[in-house]
Amino acid sequence: MNPLSGTLIVFEGIDGTGKSTQVHLLADALRKQGHTVVTSFEPTNGPAGQRLRQSMREGRLSPQQELDLFHEDRRHHVETLINPALQRGETVILDRYYFSTLAYQGTRGFNIDELRQLNESFAPQPNLLFILELDIETALSRIGVRDGQGNDFEKHETLSACAKTFSQLQGDFIHRLSADQPPADLHQQVLATILAASQPQP
Ligand code: TYD
Repeated sequence: MNPLSGTLIVFEGIDGTGKSTQVHLLADALRKQGHTVVTSFEPTNGPAGQRLRQSMREGRLSPQQELDLFHEDRRHHVETLINPALQRGETVILDRYYFSTLAYQGTRGFNIDELRQLNESFAPQPNLLFILELDIETALSRIGVRDGQGNDFEKHETLSACAKTFSQLQGDFIHRLSADQPPADLHQQVLATILAASQPQP
């Protein structure tokens, strides 16, 4: 039995932590080992996801409208891509998922525990969640903005609040790794964590 069959692996962290690089390094490594891997990201390129990306460029929606669109986008993602792939026994790797809603929409006044409960009512909990950690200054310099510039999603204050939420999430599927190291080294830690998690427990 393939221990990664039907497994959901998620990367989260504030902007600039290198999530998408890790998603691709991991997907390539697992494919080389013979696994069937599907990668995806949120917000998706579906209608709700596109509306959200537009709002990031052109002006923020109200907190409730924005939250509703993230949920709509995720429901669609779960129904059309995530669940079918898991049911086919594939390995799904995501760049952001509902923990980003807890972190980012949590900064706009929503209750984080309630957001988690709501999302877990329709979105499967990951088997492994990697939270990539990085100090805010380094993250901002990596994404090329100094404090006071950049869009609302990228402001220092927002990112600090998001990092705090990510640091407080609890669950035995959660693994925190430092993003302040070369991507190849971080990738090795990701692989080692997956290997350790897929060993049968004594
Ligand atoms: P991001 O992964 O940074 O996309 P890109 O690399 O194309 O810029 O996601 C865009 C932003 O969306 C990011 O700043 C975080 C935000 N976001 C939320 O606010 N809530 C969510 O639920 C998700 C998935 C993302």
